[in-house]
Amino acid sequence: MIAVMDGNQVIAFGNDAYQMYEKNPPCISVDRPMVGGRIADVAEVEMLLHLLLKKTDRHASPRPVIYFSAPMNMSELEKRAYYAISDAGNPRNPRVFLVDRPICDAISLGIPISRTKGSMILDIGAQSTEVSVIAGEQVIVSDSLPIGGQQLNEAICNEIRRERNLLIGKRSARRLKTSLATFLSNGMEERKVTGIDTLSGLPREDTIHSELVNDAVRNEMKKGAEAMRIFLERTPPQISGSIMNEGIYLTGGTARIPGIERYLCRMIGCRINLSKDYEFSTIKGLEELMHHKELRKWAHSVKGKK
Ligand SMILES: Nc1ncnc2c1ncn2[C@@H]1O[C@H](COP(=O)(O)OP(=O)(O)OP(=O)(O)O)[C@@H](O)[C@H]1O
Ligand SMILES: [Mg+2]
Repeated sequence: MIAVMDGNQVIAFGNDAYQMYEKNPPCISVDRPMVGGRIADVAEVEMLLHLLLKKTDRHASPRPVIYFSAPMNMSELEKRAYYAISDAGNPRNPRVFLVDRPICDAISLGIPISRTKGSMILDIGAQSTEVSVIAGEQVIVSDSLPIGGQQLNEAICNEIRRERNLLIGKRSARRLKTSLATFLSNGMEERKVTGIDTLSGLPREDTIHSELVNDAVRNEMKKGAEAMRIFLERTPPQISGSIMNEGIYLTGGTARIPGIERYLCRMIGCRINLSKDYEFSTIKGLEELMHHKELRKWAHSVKGKK
């Protein structure tokens, strides 16, 4: 996230910007410059990248090389946007490489990309789940399903409004999710939350049990799991055979919900291998690619003007 004052002055980014979310005055906008893993606001991504580059500037070579993990199925225009944001205001004409995100995940998950006859990765992130299949040394399909952490937060907000007549913010919903949500049966905890009573319009505190949060999370996740099952069913038999043998690889921040691997295993009907890196798996894979020459064949360069 990025907090921008008067449209051009960055005052915070990352977790610091998130702290301002839903509390910002009108002159400060708090936004996600990337939505569903794609560049949503070119100007904001540019500002963010330059801040990050500034931090690492002392270590940069005269001509910087920038690697991005990027979504699949991008248009030429979208690819050029990665070059444009890296090049803008950067006098050193950086070299820019894009790596398909599922390849980054596969590297950190330890999938033998060159040998696999079929491996499936589920990356459940903030706004979407990326379902990808790797075979023949490349990503053969990658699809984005509209299920992720934010949909779960919204489902929790809706459930609490319906059951308790209490309107809570997305940040509170996220807090309830990360502290209470579980797919294991032993979730019997509770948390206090403050919101606006929908009948009186006044602020009110209430105690929320994990059961209420879990009902919302399960209902929402069920739709996602069904879409994942259908995706696997539509995969050609020789590839799905290999996937069933290996088990499906699961990663992304939302995979932190305890017991999600067992739940998905039951719903999809296939063993699940849970990543140890969660939301860091993509970036760890990219880091490994940067450090190992033999992996760099999966990096595509993006041409600039020259
Ligand atoms: N302990 C936790 N329990 C449940 N959800 C969590 C936990 N920790 C983080 N999350 C959720 O993980 C999500 C972030 O995951 P991740 O960083 O993989 O997403 P992203 O890559 O930014 O998003 P996308 O892939 O949709 O572009 C957030 O919605 C966050 O609420
Ligand atoms: Mg992601």
